[in-house]
Amino acid sequence: MAAASFLPSCFLIFILIFCLYTPCLSNDGVPLYEFKEALDESASLDSTWIKGTDPCHKETKWKGVECNAENVINLYLMNNGLAGDIAIDSLANLKGLRVVSLENNSFSGPLPEFNRLTKLKSLFLAQNEFSGEIPSDFFSKMGSLKKIELARNNFSGRIPDSLVKLENLMVLFLEQNEFSGPIPSLAQKSLEKIDLSNNKLQGEIPPAMSRFGAKPFDGNPDLCGTVLSKECKADEESENEAPAEDNINETKESGSGPGPGPGSGSGAKWVVLSVVVALLVVTIAFKGKRKEDDFQMLGKDNLDETVQVHIPSSMKKRNLSSRKGIDSMNSSRKGSQKGGKKGDLIVINEEKGVFGLPDLMKAAAEVLGSGGLGSAYKAVMANGVSVVVKRLRDVNKVSRETFDTEVRKLGTMRHQNILTPLAYHYRKEEKLLVSEFVAKGSLLYLLHGDRGISHAELNWSTRLKIIQGVAQGMGYLHNEFAQYELPHGNLKSSNILISSNYDPLLNDYAFYPLINNTQSVQQLFAYKTPEAVLYQQVSPKSDVFCLGIVILEIVTGKFPSQYLNNQKGGTDVVQWIKTAISENKVSELIDPEIANVSNSLEQMEKLLYIGADCTESDQEKRIVMREAIKRIEEIKV
Ligand SMILES: *[C@@H]1O[C@H](CO)[C@@H](O)[C@H](O)[C@H]1NC(C)=O
Ligand SMILES: *[C@@H]1O[C@H](CO)[C@@H](O)[C@H](O)[C@H]1NC(C)=O
Ligand SMILES: *[C@@H]1O[C@H](CO)[C@@H](O)[C@H](O)[C@H]1NC(C)=O
Ligand SMILES: *[C@@H]1O[C@H](CO)[C@@H](O)[C@H](O)[C@H]1NC(C)=O
Ligand SMILES: *[C@@H]1O[C@H](CO)[C@@H](O)[C@H](O)[C@H]1NC(C)=O
Ligand SMILES: *[C@@H]1O[C@H](CO)[C@@H](O)[C@H](O)[C@H]1NC(C)=O
Ligand SMILES: *[C@@H]1O[C@H](CO)[C@@H](O)[C@H](O)[C@H]1NC(C)=O
Ligand SMILES: *[C@@H]1O[C@H](CO)[C@@H](O)[C@H](O)[C@H]1NC(C)=O
Repeated sequence: MAAASFLPSCFLIFILIFCLYTPCLSNDGVPLYEFKEALDESASLDSTWIKGTDPCHKETKWKGVECNAENVINLYLMNNGLAGDIAIDSLANLKGLRVVSLENNSFSGPLPEFNRLTKLKSLFLAQNEFSGEIPSDFFSKMGSLKKIELARNNFSGRIPDSLVKLENLMVLFLEQNEFSGPIPSLAQKSLEKIDLSNNKLQGEIPPAMSRFGAKPFDGNPDLCGTVLSKECKADEESENEAPAEDNINETKESGSGPGPGPGSGSGAKWVVLSVVVALLVVTIAFKGKRKEDDFQMLGKDNLDETVQVHIPSSMKKRNLSSRKGIDSMNSSRKGSQKGGKKGDLIVINEEKGVFGLPDLMKAAAEVLGSGGLGSAYKAVMANGVSVVVKRLRDVNKVSRETFDTEVRKLGTMRHQNILTPLAYHYRKEEKLLVSEFVAKGSLLYLLHGDRGISHAELNWSTRLKIIQGVAQGMGYLHNEFAQYELPHGNLKSSNILISSNYDPLLNDYAFYPLINNTQSVQQLFAYKTPEAVLYQQVSPKSDVFCLGIVILEIVTGKFPSQYLNNQKGGTDVVQWIKTAISENKVSELIDPEIANVSNSLEQMEKLLYIGADCTESDQEKRIVMREAIKRIEEIKV
C-alpha cells in the first residue's frame, strides 16, 4: 500500500520510518515498573516485567500488559497472587490506560483511589480482600466506566450513589460483600448485567431495576418489592425514582411540539426520526472527535456507547402490528411519488415480518458506531426482533428508483453467510437501511474488543470456521453480482458480523452502484487496495485483496493498519507476511492465543500463505476469488 498517500505530513512519515527501523520504546515502562515495585508480592511478574525493557514490544512484552501503537491500554493481572500497595500515582501516568483487572489477587484495605483514573472503562477487582466503605461520590468523575466488578470482597456501607450517574455503565457486579442500606436507583438503560446478591441490602428494590428479575438481589433478606413478590411496608424509604417505563412521560418535546395526538400520521413520525438522527449525528460526531487519539484503531470504542431516545407515549401506544402501519407504508409509497408525503419504511425482505417506522421508533436506540458508509444504531422492536438501522451517509445522490432497484436486489440475497437487509427508508436527504441485529457483533470487536476476555474467545476451530464462512459468502456475492466491478467492495472485519453460533455474516456489500458516481466511493475499503490508490482502478480482485487482509487479521490476531485512514497504529499485515515469508518465519506470525494447538500449525501457515497470495500488490499476480475460496475450503481443523 502506498502509505504516504494517507499521511498528512512529513513529520508523520518520519515517525513511521523511525519506528520501522528502531522499535519505538514505549514510555509507559517506567510508571508500570514503579507500580510493580510498590507491590509487596509480585513474584509472578518477575520474569517478564524487566526494568528498562519495553512492556509493549513483541519480544519483551510484559505479562498481562496490552498496548496500542503508543500506550499501555489494558492491564490484565488477574490470578497472579499480587498483594501490597497499589501505586495509583504510577498508574495515573499511563495516559492510555482503559482497563484494569486485578481480579483474584490478595489486595486488601480500603478501595484505592482508582477514581483518579478518570478514563477507565473497566475496573475488575473481584475476589480480593478489599474492605471498608466506598465514598458516595467515588465514581462521580469516572463517566467512561462501563464495567465495575467488585464482587467477593468485604466492602461495606452503602452502594455509592454516584453509580447512578454513570451513563455508560453496562456491568455492575457487587455480589458477596457486606453492602447495606438502600439500593440506589440505577435506571440507566445501558445497564445490561447486575449482581447485588449476598449482601445486606435493605428496603425497596427500585422499580427501574425490576427488569433484572429477582436473581441479582438474592441473599439480601431485608429487601422487598414487586420483583420479590414481597410487599414493602408503607413507611419504608421510597426515595426511588419513577419506574423506567414512566420515563416516557419525560420525553423532551424537542421541537416535536406537545404532540398532535395519536394518529397524526407520518408528519409527527418524521419529526421524531429527525430528532433521533440528529441526536445520533451529534453523539457520533462528538464521540468520534474525542476518541480520535484514543485507541481509535479498534473502532470498537463506539460499539457499546449508548444513547437513549425517548419516544412520545402517543407513538408507544399504537398497535404496531395492525394493518394501519402496513397500509401507511403502501400509501406513503404512492404519496411520495406525488412528492407530497414523506416515505415510510419499505420492507424488502419479509423473513422477519413486516414492520413500519413506528416499530422502529418504539425502543431505545443504541449507537453502534460509525463506519465508512455511515452510522448505525440498534433498536429492539415490539415483535422482539432486534434490528440495526444504518444511516447511509454517502449515497445521498442516487435517485429513488436506482436506490429501490439496488436495495431490493440486496433483499433477495439468501445465503447462510450473508446478512440480507430487511427494509429501507428513502428520502432525498436521508437513506436508512434496516437489517437484523447479529448476536455477537462484528468480528473486529470480537478480535480486538475490550471485554476482559480479549480474543481468547476465538479458538482455532472457530477462526477457521469464520474464514471459511466468509469465503463462502464471498463466493455467493461474486456469483450474484458477477457483473459488478466490486461485488462486495467493502469487506473488512467490522463488516463481518458473528452470530451466536460463530457463523460469519457479510454485511455492507454490493453498494458500489449506489455510490459509484460520488467521491464517497473512496469510503469503500476496496479503495484502499494498491490498484485503487495508485491507478484508481478496482476489480473483483480488489475484493480478493480485502479477503486476504481479513485472513491475515484472523490468523495473526493483529489489527491491520490498512483499516486506519492515516495508517498510524496497527500492524501492516501485508508487509509483515511478505517479510516473514522471505525470512522463512511464517509460523511466528500466528496469534499466540491459537498457536498452542500444535497439530494445526501447518493449516494455520497455509492460511497465512493464502492471505499473502490474496494481498499480492500486483493485481495480475494476485489469485482470483475462485482459487482463494478453493484453497480456503481445503483447510481442515
Ligand atoms: C486464583 O488465582 C490463583 C493463583 O494466584 C489460581 O491458582 C486460582 O485458580 C485462581 N482462582 C480462580 C477462581 O481463578
Ligand atoms: C469483613 O468486614 C467486617 C466488618 O465490616 C469484619 O467484621 C469481618 O471480619 C471482615 N471479614 C473478613 C473476611 O475480612
Ligand atoms: C404520565 O402521564 C399520564 C397522562 O399523560 C399521567 O396520568 C401519569 O400520571 C404520568 N406518569 C408520571 C409518572 O408522571
Ligand atoms: C393489534 O392488532 C392486531 C391485529 O389487528 C390484533 O390481533 C391485536 O390484538 C392488537 N393488539 C392490541 C394490543 O391492540
Ligand atoms: C401494498 O400494495 C400492493 C400493491 O400496490 C398490494 O399488492 C399489497 O397487498 C399491499 N400491501 C398491504 C399490506 O396492503
Ligand atoms: C472452540 O470454541 C467454540 C465456541 O466457543 C466451541 O464450541 C468449541 O468446542 C471450541 N473448540 C475447541 C477445540 O476448543
Ligand atoms: C454506476 O452504476 C450504474 C449501475 O447502477 C452503471 O450503469 C454506471 O455505469 C456506473 N457508473 C460508473 C462510472 O461506473
Ligand atoms: C490455548 O491457549 C488458550 C489461551 O491461552 C486456551 O484458552 C486454550 O484452551 C489453549 N488450547 C489448548 C489446546 O491448549
